Amino acid sequence: VHWTANEKAAITSTWAKVNIEKDGAEALTRLFIVYPWTQRYFSSFGNLSIVDTISSNENVRAHGKKVLGAVGNAIQHLDDVKGTLANLSKEHAADLHVDPENFKRLAQVLLIVLATKLGAGFTPQVAAAWQKFSNVLVAALTHGYH
Ligand code: HEM
Repeated sequence: VHWTANEKAAITSTWAKVNIEKDGAEALTRLFIVYPWTQRYFSSFGNLSIVDTISSNENVRAHGKKVLGAVGNAIQHLDDVKGTLANLSKEHAADLHVDPENFKRLAQVLLIVLATKLGAGFTPQVAAAWQKFSNVLVAALTHGYH
């Protein structure tokens, strides 16, 4: 994947505004509400069926931080996202048995969280760079399934 300097700048400058724990919890909360069947992978997290309590669930917060931590790591290695996430992809495939369609769903809710957070700062250019990054992220996480 080739990144223009503008795309890299758009991604890294908006990422700098992200709070990985808070925004990570919000992305997971949206995932669990909009796609409730994704809750089945997290039976150890306690009750995720009550909308009001999902985002304050400590397990969700801790996990959101881990997930966005990995996204941030990928952003630091934009020229090798696939290699950077190779082990994580294998783990989701072989150990966690996560249906890779769910990566698209999480990437999509993450874009919504960013758009909501950035408001007017989520310009068409920023949105396009993030859409491209989402595709790269999903492809990298899906790679270990082949
Ligand atoms: C664990 C990242 C999407 C299910 C993890 C971990 C990371 C991570 C960093 C912790 C790994 C470890 O500690 O060894 C990501 C990223 C995703 C993503 C970057 C996409 C952007 C998903 C999706 C699901 C999922 C969509 C299911 C719907 C899980 C589960 C665990 C896990 C069940 C183990 C949780 C636990 O028991 O602590 N993921 N993940 N992941 N992930 Fe993902």
